[in-house]
Amino acid sequence: MSRNQIVHTPDEIARIRRAAAITAQVRDQIASAIHPGMTTLDVDMLAGEFIRASGGKSAFLNYHGYPGNICISVNEEVVHGIGSPKRIIGEKDIVSIDVGVEFDGAMGDTAVTVSMASEPDADIRRLLEGTRNALFKGIDAARGGKRVGDISRAVERAARDSHLGIVREYVGHGCGIRLHEPPEVPNFSGWGSGPVLVPGMVLCIEPMLNLGSEKIVVDRKDGWTVRTRDGAWSAHFEHMILITENEPEILTWQKMMCSE
Ligand code: MF3
Ligand code: CO
Ligand code: CO
Repeated sequence: MSRNQIVHTPDEIARIRRAAAITAQVRDQIASAIHPGMTTLDVDMLAGEFIRASGGKSAFLNYHGYPGNICISVNEEVVHGIGSPKRIIGEKDIVSIDVGVEFDGAMGDTAVTVSMASEPDADIRRLLEGTRNALFKGIDAARGGKRVGDISRAVERAARDSHLGIVREYVGHGCGIRLHEPPEVPNFSGWGSGPVLVPGMVLCIEPMLNLGSEKIVVDRKDGWTVRTRDGAWSAHFEHMILITENEPEILTWQKMMCSE
């Protein structure tokens, strides 16, 4: 087994499954609570409460010095947006929330982009549906015996079919006991076929797609917020999956019940 793969033990998988389910529940609680007029700091603080109530803790807070409970990225922000009292969510905005929860020594990591408009414009719909579809095309390709490159190719093809720009600087990853584990899971091919997918591997697949160009810039003041260079809007969807002999198990499926 190469050190580019981490295959988790059954005991680890049991704990990862639970952490991922809790994370998905927190993600959905936040997604249904967000509304126009809130600041992104309000969202972050609410997320902190949901995470505490779950019995876990934020996997992002203090990670490489990250200052928030979750990442909240609005419109042209791609990922790693930090809750701010100055950014008020508008009625037509799209909001990406990326949530990580540590529970019992295991990690969950999942993201979704929601539209504040109940009937978003055609381009926004193409962005949201195209990015979510690219994620699920990637998940479909993630079968035991295939390779990481097969996931990347499937995501890339779907993104191109929707005419969306693929952010290349940030990639999916192994996950489970640490937030980021090998291997990297790019949203484009060209890095070779990559490691073989073995049952017991846990991967985060997370396309970050733009309505405009793929080019991004990182905020020079906060050192975190990633924005599109041309200001076009961007979406991010992320699921954590367990590789099996057949279809992958989506560990962060929505509305998954936890201990209750
Ligand atoms: N959740 C991100 C990912 O999907 C990582 C966020 S790290 C943070 O990999 F420090 F910005 F929180
Ligand atoms: Co994430
Ligand atoms: Co991730």
